Amino acid sequence: MRKKFLAKALAGILGVGIFTATVPNFYEIGEAMTLPYEETVYDLNFAEAIGTEKTLTVDGREIKFVAYENIVYVRNPANVDAQCLSIYIPAEYFSGGTINGYTAATAPIFMPNGVGGYMPGEIQAPAEKTRFSDSPNASLVALSRGLVVVSPAIRGRTTTTDGVYVGKAPALIVDYKAAVRYLRHNRGKLPAGDTEKIISNGTSAGGALSAALGSMGNAPEFEPYLREIGAADERDDIFASSDYCPITNLENADASYEWIFYGENKYYPAMWQIKANATADDANNPTAVKQATNMTAAEIKISKKLRDAFPAYVNSLKLRDEYGKILTLDKKGNGTFKSYIKRKYVESAQDALERGEDLSGVDWLIFENGRVVDVDLTKYPAAATRMKAAPAFDKMDLSSAENDEFATADNSPRHFNALVQKNSKGDMADAELIKIMNPMNFIGRDDVTVAKHFRIRHGAVDRDTALAIPAILALKLQNTGVDVDFFSPWGRGHSGDYDLDKLFDWIDSICK
Ligand code: DHB
Repeated sequence: MRKKFLAKALAGILGVGIFTATVPNFYEIGEAMTLPYEETVYDLNFAEAIGTEKTLTVDGREIKFVAYENIVYVRNPANVDAQCLSIYIPAEYFSGGTINGYTAATAPIFMPNGVGGYMPGEIQAPAEKTRFSDSPNASLVALSRGLVVVSPAIRGRTTTTDGVYVGKAPALIVDYKAAVRYLRHNRGKLPAGDTEKIISNGTSAGGALSAALGSMGNAPEFEPYLREIGAADERDDIFASSDYCPITNLENADASYEWIFYGENKYYPAMWQIKANATADDANNPTAVKQATNMTAAEIKISKKLRDAFPAYVNSLKLRDEYGKILTLDKKGNGTFKSYIKRKYVESAQDALERGEDLSGVDWLIFENGRVVDVDLTKYPAAATRMKAAPAFDKMDLSSAENDEFATADNSPRHFNALVQKNSKGDMADAELIKIMNPMNFIGRDDVTVAKHFRIRHGAVDRDTALAIPAILALKLQNTGVDVDFFSPWGRGHSGDYDLDKLFDWIDSICK
């Protein structure tokens, strides 16, 4: 039996009736019952969780909150350390107070995940500063603005239990959904927070995860996975999804990358790929790595094949812009979809210009009468720089984070792009598995509840995935009636949570 939870919970006893309960939230089961990974069944009753009062400071203002930490959110965890969550509630809500116009009953629930690189995600506890920043993190800012914060730990591609890999695809989505179900299961017992106003947040692989949670509400494909870990029998749709630079739509991300980067045959790895403890500055500076590596002949060959495959994919989606215009590409990769992508860069640059940035040295922008009117996408690759050799995601030698994400339970990496697999060695992941990792396969379906609101951000010099990928996601959502706020911040590389004031203004605008 694991003692970890009990020890942590007891250490946090507050001694005030409203915050406390006396029984730890698990009990042992009889030997007759066999479970795949754990011998303990966990109770999902929040009434038994124990809170701790804490205080942190934001802009000189004290933020008091109660933390209920490391609560296991499924009955039969595959990995108990990875499948627990923490709940943080502004102290005012325990005495009938209001913050920012919210009450205990109406406060939205902000649900950030800490996933990056498809690795295990850690609980995002409120913090005054982080490794990457001297500013308060999203969880603390959320509390300061009257939101309840619930952050789950999530299984990732390196999570093991007794030597078995238990966190490969689609475990991260299953866990995020299970955490939502835990909250709904306890809707009458939580001291504060509106379980119909859950808002997810994540960056990169965590942005992909946030997009998945927002797009796959109650999808029947996930029922067996949720049942296996003993998730509460509840709905898992959410109200809104905030996605920073989502590394999503993986089986089309390679073609999309070559559509923009084909012909650029040198690449500059990101700082985090070559340096431990890379800083946020490294992440935001695409040319921080000065030494280029040349792509091999085989990489250049597959780059062309992938580029040539992209128009057929775009055309199959029948996307329309906000004016109802159909977005397509001809065989050469030109057309209205390309114009749309250019327009997103124009909007981005014009916004920076209006904020007083000097863009005169940016050679891929086209100005007329002091305004940005067009971009030259042929010059974009040299300016932004290529970060990954082709294929960018599904590597011929199965060496990427994504190949590992699609690996088997004994850690054998697999392909997920049919074109790449045809041109290299190694097995393809199951078609059904590839399908359920991609939000694009759920949006617009009658048997799925998609979040009403999405906010998607992808920096104008983000080279981890091409802008076309979040753009396609945003368009598909918009085309099915979802409210989408999609923007490409100027000068921004692969990063998230950099505009928290705006993020929480957006949350207020959709919740009030
Ligand atoms: C992440 C970044 C990548 O470039 C990638 O391929 C997968 C994940 C990340 O930062 O999460």
